[in-house]
Amino acid sequence: MTKVPFFDLHRQFRRLQSEIIDDLVEVCESQSFILGPKVLEFETRIAALTGTNFGIATSSGTDAELLILMALSLGAGDGVITTPFTFFATAGTIVRVGAKPIFVDIDPATFNLSIAKLEEFLEKNCVTTNSGTVTRDGVKIRAVVPVHLFGLCCDLPELRRVCDRWQLMLIEDAAQALGASYPEGRTLKKAGSAGVAGFFSFYPTKNLGAFGDAGMVVTDDAGLAAKMRALRNHGMEPRYYHHLVGGAFRMDALQAAVLLRKLAHLEKWSSRRWELAQRYRTELSGLEVILPAEPYACGWEGHIYHQFVIRTPERNRLRTYLAERGVGTEIYYPLALHQQPCFEPLGYKAGDLPVAEKVASECLALPVFPELTDEEQALVILRIGEFFGRK
Ligand SMILES: Cc1ncc(COP(=O)(O)O)c(C=O)c1O
Repeated sequence: MTKVPFFDLHRQFRRLQSEIIDDLVEVCESQSFILGPKVLEFETRIAALTGTNFGIATSSGTDAELLILMALSLGAGDGVITTPFTFFATAGTIVRVGAKPIFVDIDPATFNLSIAKLEEFLEKNCVTTNSGTVTRDGVKIRAVVPVHLFGLCCDLPELRRVCDRWQLMLIEDAAQALGASYPEGRTLKKAGSAGVAGFFSFYPTKNLGAFGDAGMVVTDDAGLAAKMRALRNHGMEPRYYHHLVGGAFRMDALQAAVLLRKLAHLEKWSSRRWELAQRYRTELSGLEVILPAEPYACGWEGHIYHQFVIRTPERNRLRTYLAERGVGTEIYYPLALHQQPCFEPLGYKAGDLPVAEKVASECLALPVFPELTDEEQALVILRIGEFFGRK
């Protein structure tokens, strides 16, 4: 039986192996493993790619978010609004700094935080005081962390309008969206550039993946960038003098070397993902599945398809059917965050965020990595068609 993997990193590695090994040897010969020139070069490249002034490379996407929240002094008594349909780190990090995550439901078409529901939440539950936006039970709402899920940007101009009106900081979780764009007037802007700061993950399975954990913050704010650079390294400035309590959130030079080498291919890889997505869109239309939204008519930049996620009430049966025929799929994410056991103390219950809950029970990610062959994709499409009784 021909098998189609959900994802296969070996294929990418085989193609780049010799160049990457040379780069790794260069770092080994330098014996300079933490931060240094490779990391600096990578920071400069990511800032340029995202149209921002500063990149601050970190040990992971999670640590990049932590760094932003710490630098903005978010903590006890503060509320941070975010989406319940995302990877755990988005909200886990908010809790780790002592702040309270407040979940607002998602848009069923884009899977991203619903801006209409965000406004509704603010109107219903919050008042504006001299010290900012406060909920009726006394939580000071200071920031919104939208997630550009699966590589599709939220409507950032609209989100910024709401954030400005309520004096909230906009922090973009762009972990899955490096290089994704959204239109603002007549220009295309890049994920990460809309708010006070944005962050990316280079977890190995991301569109741009390291050989381990790595992440990046981007910002236009020079003061914030300087503070994050210090916090990333135990608040040390100069050596062995600590004005702030930070952490060890630094990127390794080995990761920067891998990422710099792969960066040259990112555009080609993301456009191949988009091409695969277009074929799924054409070939799966007419079946009883909901296809992912593609609201921005700007080619591959409008959706970098970190994942291609369909919806069907038959999700579990379809997944088993495909698995039995050698086709790999994945579920991102099976349980919305407000229902995670560790967030029980936040007091949410089933039914509170119905769209996220429904999407979590119906979503299925199909293979969409750049090295997936046309023949493999045709097999995925054939099997899905068979499942739904296509003649
Ligand atoms: C939406 C989202 N936020 C945050 C993260 C955290 O990034 P990392 O795994 O690099 O710590 C991820 C990565 O998986 C993610 O997908």
